[in-house]
Amino acid sequence: MPKLIVALDVDSFERATRIIERLKGIDVLYKIGHEALFRYGEPLIASLESLGLPSFMDVKLYDIPRTVAAGVRALVRPNVRIINVHALGGAAMMEAAVEAAAQRSAELGIAAPLIYAVTVLTSLAAEDLGELGLSGGPGENVIRLAGLARDARCAGVVCSVQEAYDLKSFFGAEFGTLCPGIRPAGTAHGDQKRVATPREAALAGVDYIVVGRPILEAPDPAAAARAILAEMEGVHA
Ligand code: C5P
Repeated sequence: MPKLIVALDVDSFERATRIIERLKGIDVLYKIGHEALFRYGEPLIASLESLGLPSFMDVKLYDIPRTVAAGVRALVRPNVRIINVHALGGAAMMEAAVEAAAQRSAELGIAAPLIYAVTVLTSLAAEDLGELGLSGGPGENVIRLAGLARDARCAGVVCSVQEAYDLKSFFGAEFGTLCPGIRPAGTAHGDQKRVATPREAALAGVDYIVVGRPILEAPDPAAAARAILAEMEGVHA
């Protein structure tokens, strides 16, 4: 069954803390994105660490290999389970990230975080890819970049549930998938277009689902998170 990652997309440390308190005891990881990291990253990371709660650093690194490796080294901490990079940074950059994660965690005597690669941002349509000089549609590019990520020893890729199904059949169940755009039946889609339900994610064999607003904006975030987990329980890919 997919693991649930809650996106801490809130603008203050106090709000993030309130969400974490309300979800106490529920088996989730916390996604630290740009807003959380840049506004209140240090206290948040320290707080999750002291509570022993796992996190996903959604930093989407993209730079020369040495710089990305240095960034990854700085992010490796005991409870950081996943760090992501852009596949478009190239094979050498992804390998540098994987290597840095392995080395730094060995130095600290902790488990290495998984390196996931972002293939094609879901905000890019076919015509945007043409503008960037990438031929073919998003689907073909996702598969090609996922192959590159796998060869660079990344643990998996960030993708939609629809793509996860194809990627699993292409690269095997072992290659990880982490999917945002999850909407339990009956909740608002917001700006997400290619959405899937938690159950569909479980059926596709997805490893991690990322959920933000359906939990953050629920009157009872704990009940919303539990309902998502219950929807996926017992579903086999
Ligand atoms: O609120 P919602 O459930 O849509 O939040 C999804 C989270 O996943 C947000 O933090 C969003 O930035 C992130 N994300 C996404 N689509 C991607 C990559 C990341 O929605 N392709």
